[in-house]
Amino acid sequence: TPQFDFRSDGYLYCEGVRVKDVQEALGPEFSPFYLYSQDRIEANVQAYTEALVGLDAIVGYAVKANNNVMIMKLVRELGCGAVLVSGNELRLAQLAGFDMRRTVFNGNGKTPHEIALAVQAECLINVDSEFDIENILAAARRERRRARVLLRINPDIDPQVHPYVSTGLATSKFGIRTDHLDWFLDRIKQNEELVELVGVHSHLGSTIKKVELFHDNVVTMLRIIDDICAQGFRSIRFLNIGGGLGIDYERNGERIPTPQELIDAIRPRLAGRGLTLIIEPGRSLVGNAGILVNTVIGVKRNGDKRFVVVDGSMAELIRPALYGAYQFIALVEPGQQDKELAEYDIVGPVCESSDFLGKGRRLPEPAPGMGLVVMDSGAYCMSMASNYNMKLLPAEIMVHGDSWRVIRQRQTFTDLLSGYRELMPIPGLES
Ligand code: LLP
Repeated sequence: TPQFDFRSDGYLYCEGVRVKDVQEALGPEFSPFYLYSQDRIEANVQAYTEALVGLDAIVGYAVKANNNVMIMKLVRELGCGAVLVSGNELRLAQLAGFDMRRTVFNGNGKTPHEIALAVQAECLINVDSEFDIENILAAARRERRRARVLLRINPDIDPQVHPYVSTGLATSKFGIRTDHLDWFLDRIKQNEELVELVGVHSHLGSTIKKVELFHDNVVTMLRIIDDICAQGFRSIRFLNIGGGLGIDYERNGERIPTPQELIDAIRPRLAGRGLTLIIEPGRSLVGNAGILVNTVIGVKRNGDKRFVVVDGSMAELIRPALYGAYQFIALVEPGQQDKELAEYDIVGPVCESSDFLGKGRRLPEPAPGMGLVVMDSGAYCMSMASNYNMKLLPAEIMVHGDSWRVIRQRQTFTDLLSGYRELMPIPGLES
């Protein structure tokens, strides 16, 4: 059964909870808010772990997708490792209790300080450039600890997704071109007391829905592993294939491959290799487990164009504005029955023409105060939210069964002022 469903009474439910009830309980000051289904997250993680049965593997949760620490704890309890792209994500993973030896520290611009943290914490560290390996060597020397590194390979495979989320092309800023690998192998060989080369990594891009692309990537990477081993490296243990599958944003019945289909496509290639597979899903673990619940401020017409203006915006959810991304939109309650369906642009209050959540959506005309939901907002939504126009970061709610709780408070005006030490304390300022 789906964890989010529009029932015959015309209301949206998350597990056993009516979303409208949460909106009413929180009140208008807490709108918009994010709401997550614990069951959905658990089912998404299980889909990967069940697909991987019999393989030596780590499911590394890509924390950038959603860094709510309660969600991080949940996926850690379900057996995931973590994939990190900043020193602060690393610190958060420590807070969430991850076994840091099962985390990967990624990125094309790690600072020397961040690398020192990763070496201390014994993360697996991806090498992305010449300066990166030099910084890792320096940190290992200073920390007197041997760093375990993976080479991030740029396999030059076109993932056929939006250019902003494709990363494995020859022209991308990420990874090392295969014709340049020898330099890195030499550098590592010269410094074996400081770094151990334990694997290779590649990430083609995000939102991929073609299993063959993962397969082709594995074939390419295994060939590279063979080349590296032929040069005398004996310690290659990890094959990291990067992010996970895309999800069904359109909700139009298109079939998205399952983790089972993804793993089945690559499993034969891994047989007898003695490698630990690392996969780094973010979107497919949390994307369809979250929604953004907005409140309708009003409806307006400009000529033939109709707009629904809601309190949520590109500040809380930037994917439509940034990538032209489509996410399904609906009312959380029955629309006004006497009004006909019409096509609306769903827009927020932010002063930008790119401030839209959806365009040309067929909806019953909503009344002010009604709830309007953007589905599939669990990944890259809250984690990309900003304070543009002094908008506050939304609260986050976790639903489990028939109950719900606030897992992160809404930001306050006082929080936004906390950097202004000279002004503090501000008389009469309440949170
Ligand atoms: N591993 C690496 C090295 C990555 O760069 C990414 C995502 C992942 C794993 C996780 O990929 P996933 O399983 O979530 O597809 N903000 C964009 C997505 C950016 C993805 C960046 N890298 C969006 O909202 O669609």
